[in-house]
Parts: sequence; structure tokens; C-alpha cells
Amino acid sequence: MGRRCWRRRALAAACLGAALLLLLLGVAPRALRPVFDNRAVGSSWLGGRRRSPLQMLHDLDQGRLSDLAEVHRQRRDWLRRTCSRHTRRQHLLQPEDLRHVLVDDAHGLLYCYVPKVACTNWKRVLLALSGRAPSDPRTIPAHEAHAPGRLPSLADFSPAEVNRRLRAYLAFLFVREPFERLASAYRNKLQRPWGADFQRRFGTSIVRRLRPRPGPDALTRGHDVRFAEFLAYLLDPRTRRDGPFNEHWERTHALCHPCRLRYDVVGKFETLAEDAAFVLSLVGAPGLRFPEPPPGAGAAAAHDRAARLFRDISPFYQRRLFGLYKMDFLLFNYSAPSYLRLR
Ligand SMILES: *[C@@H]1O[C@H](CO)[C@@H](O)[C@H](O)[C@H]1NC(C)=O
Repeated sequence: MGRRCWRRRALAAACLGAALLLLLLGVAPRALRPVFDNRAVGSSWLGGRRRSPLQMLHDLDQGRLSDLAEVHRQRRDWLRRTCSRHTRRQHLLQPEDLRHVLVDDAHGLLYCYVPKVACTNWKRVLLALSGRAPSDPRTIPAHEAHAPGRLPSLADFSPAEVNRRLRAYLAFLFVREPFERLASAYRNKLQRPWGADFQRRFGTSIVRRLRPRPGPDALTRGHDVRFAEFLAYLLDPRTRRDGPFNEHWERTHALCHPCRLRYDVVGKFETLAEDAAFVLSLVGAPGLRFPEPPPGAGAAAAHDRAARLFRDISPFYQRRLFGLYKMDFLLFNYSAPSYLRLR
């Protein structure tokens, strides 16, 4: 498929997504026309003089693609194709659905953050870019990066403002192998001793609901939830009836709506350093380095940890859990992990 064709498809997809949003928010779709005018990208970008990251990506797309740019083009194509194959009627986007999309007006960026996929470091980098924090992202404390309101969210803007940004900005997200992300969420929030808040919030209700004879300590602290209990909680129909999943284990597609919004770059946790550098090269911030992951955060170690956790899970639960996260596997081109027993 030619590059030009991708661009048309991407624009059409963006237009469709934006049109649905506009319809929902009660604005005439006519307002969308300028999407197809390439100059509109420049003129509506708030950053002004320099070329915007989205223009940089389009420039790349016109020339001979580097290997990395080609990988990203293929991922975009894959996402578009998979979306059109697998999504039928979808619920209308509400403004609150855009809560995870963070906005950098100075650079023309939209970043959908997915917890457990280096989102703390991305928030640090966006804060450093914004000039509202030290210019070395590594020195920004995590609690400051996560503080509500530090970075504006697309959900905070009016429909017209939302649409202008959706058209002109480079939108990106970072994704991760779904079960490795889930294993990481479990380890971090329910298993480790420093997850006391999460253990009290979620651990205690998991124990109360799913453990036949819970001890008093577990009922008050929720500190010893087993992986199998956590998975049973995710698969329990009552859990989703009570509300959306917590963002640490909510499916990426439900947080970022990749079939409704046009994402220009799909970064992967497994190739974090290269993909982050690719985004930063489009932003034109050569001095900015994405923070290095801590030791032990390598792909092989993450795979082993997930494999160990899933080893004790029955094939029945493995299949149902795969069903629950299947769209994330499909949309982001992850194959079912080899340790799964799906039949
Ligand atoms: C999908 O994943 C496979 C296996 O990792 C890889 O070889 C292929 O290039 C990927 N396709 C796209 C479009 O990213």
C-alpha cells in the first residue's frame, strides 16, 4: 500500500473520529472540512514558526523512510486495518473518554497515557518540554508527574478546541504486551508491600468477594491477593457492572480509543528507547533524553515474570482472560504468548 494511500486513510479515519465526536457534542460536521487542507495543519497549530511534529511525520512519509519510520508506518497501517476489520458499532465518545489524552499546545502533541507503560516517564518528559518543570525529566518526582492538572487533558477543552487539536497535533501512545502489563499491575499494586493504598481499595474487596473463608487481617488490609484471585476478580461480571476497570488494568483500547482517534505513532514498551527517541525527534527536542528504565525492566525479565504468574492459572481462566484482552493483542499486533494454554 502506497504512502499516499495511508495518508488518505489516516485523514479519513481522523475525520470520521472527529465527525462522531462532533455529532455527539452537537457541532455541525461541516466544521470539519479544513481537515483535508494540508495548510490548515500549519495555520491552526499553536506553536507557530517551526514545523509541527505532525508535519515532520508527513515530511518523513514523503521521503525515503528510515527503518524506524517504516516500522511506525506499518504499525499505523496495521492499527487502521485491524480497526476496520474488528470494530462494528461503537458507543459515542463522551468528553470524559478523552481524559487520558494529555495535551501539549506548545509542541502540538497529544499523548494518551497508559499506566504500566512508562507513563510516569512520559509525563516527566512532557513536563520538562513544557518548561514548567526542571529540564531534566529524571529529576521530576513521580508524584509531581502524576499530580492532577499538571498536564492538561483533552477532556478539559470545548468540542471545537478538541477537534482543532485532533486535526493538527501529533497523537501518540505507548502500548505493551497485554499480559505483561497485567502482571506488572498485579505485582506493583497488589503484591508488593508498598501498594498499601491499592491493597486497601481493591485487595480488600477482592478478598471479601472471592475468598471462601477470608481471615480478619486479609479483610482489613487486602495485602495477600493471589494472582488467580486477581484474575477471577477481572473476569467476575460484577466487577465491570460496578464501573470501569481501574486504569492500571483497563484495556488500552478502552483508555485511548485507537479506533476512534487517529494515532500517528504507536510506541511499544518492548522497544521503548528507540520509539521514544523517534517521537522526540519529531518534536525537535534533540537535547531531551527519555529516562533510562531501571535495571531488571528488560523485555526478557518481564516475559519471564508474566510466564511464572500464568503458570499456575488453569487453561479455562487463561482462555477467558485472553478473550478479555484480545482486542489489545490484535490492535497492537501482539501474538498470544507461548506459555498460554489456549486449547
Ligand atoms: C507484527 O508482528 C510480527 C511479529 O512480531 C512482525 O514480524 C510484524 O512485522 C508486525 N507487523 C506490523 C505491521 O507491525
